[in-house]
Amino acid sequence: MKRIMKDNEKNRTRYLCLTSEILEGRSKSFSIYDDKGLREDIAVFNINGKYHAISDTCAHKGGPLSQGILKEDVVTCPWHGWKYNVHTGKSPHKGGDNVNGFVTKVIGNKLYIDPIPSTLGNKVYTPHKKYAALQNSVKNHLTLLDKDSRMPLDSNVHVLGISTTNSNDKVAPRKSTSEGALNFALDYAKKKLGTECIMIKLRQLNFKHCEGYYSKNAKACIFPCSISEMDEEDQMLEIYEKVILWSDVVIVSTPIRWGNASSLYYQMVQRMNCVQNQSVTHNQYLIRDKAAAFIITGGQDNVQHVAGEMLSFWSQLGFVFGKFPFVGWSRGWYAEDMENNYDSMMSTKESPMKRDIMRTVLGAVEMAKLVKKNKYDEHVLTI
Ligand code: FES
Repeated sequence: MKRIMKDNEKNRTRYLCLTSEILEGRSKSFSIYDDKGLREDIAVFNINGKYHAISDTCAHKGGPLSQGILKEDVVTCPWHGWKYNVHTGKSPHKGGDNVNGFVTKVIGNKLYIDPIPSTLGNKVYTPHKKYAALQNSVKNHLTLLDKDSRMPLDSNVHVLGISTTNSNDKVAPRKSTSEGALNFALDYAKKKLGTECIMIKLRQLNFKHCEGYYSKNAKACIFPCSISEMDEEDQMLEIYEKVILWSDVVIVSTPIRWGNASSLYYQMVQRMNCVQNQSVTHNQYLIRDKAAAFIITGGQDNVQHVAGEMLSFWSQLGFVFGKFPFVGWSRGWYAEDMENNYDSMMSTKESPMKRDIMRTVLGAVEMAKLVKKNKYDEHVLTI
């Protein structure tokens, strides 16, 4: 029997499309406007010839639910996997956020929707403690910087060393040239330049590789990284905290592995894509008035290539560089004798390698002081 719309229904309902335009098991997105002109993006799903509509905007970070994976009556957001029942917009598990649900109507071969939600979404989710703490601290930190980015004159410069060598201390502790050089650099920064120093050894942290959320959509790459949000054990939070909140200078050391930096280095920088991405998607600059420098060592050649990659990435994060921003050496293709490499660096008191390291560290520390004092970032970021 043909269904006739009542007058008040007629005024409210919005035409969406012909029913044939949404195939069984598929979904489609629409933008509708209520009587006040407010827009809502809707995802409509066809399950066995019945049409179900919920908000198209995931309650987490706005992922498009119409592009999610539909299994029975639950859709999984394509960005980070939050789930919603397509009949109601409710999360199928306790503690999950819900989105608005809507009533659809089929009249003849046409599909309509009531723009007033039949079920209202609500937010109940809270991220785990460490994740929420970092979110808050970064927010407060940026608010403070927006007010005044100058380093208080009496505060020490903080130098963070990140050693990215993969050497396995548990199996057989051994001399790492890059880490030995970083130790020397931090020792110099502390004793001769009066800075505060911390070293992070990446191999002692437990953190996952990047899962490529950026490739789904630039906005799916969120800060702090969604992997840290999902995995309470993920220790990238420690890197974010030290790099963004604590450090004034970051010195990264790496060995050369087949012409590139260490695999752990790449694992870390790919997880830092979310730091750089904030400036692209949110116009928010997490790295302010900080300098970086690099130590690169290898038994084979390619220092300049590795330095080029590191300079490029850390500059895109927002770091600036002092004079001689990297120090590196290798002993060439025929010198597969890393123990000699290490010894030649550390043994002589006045080795040229030690002198180069000191010069690079001094350049970075002085640059960090300069940019802070002169509010460098504040000038540049107002464009
Ligand atoms: S799960 Fe939907 S935006 Fe993150």
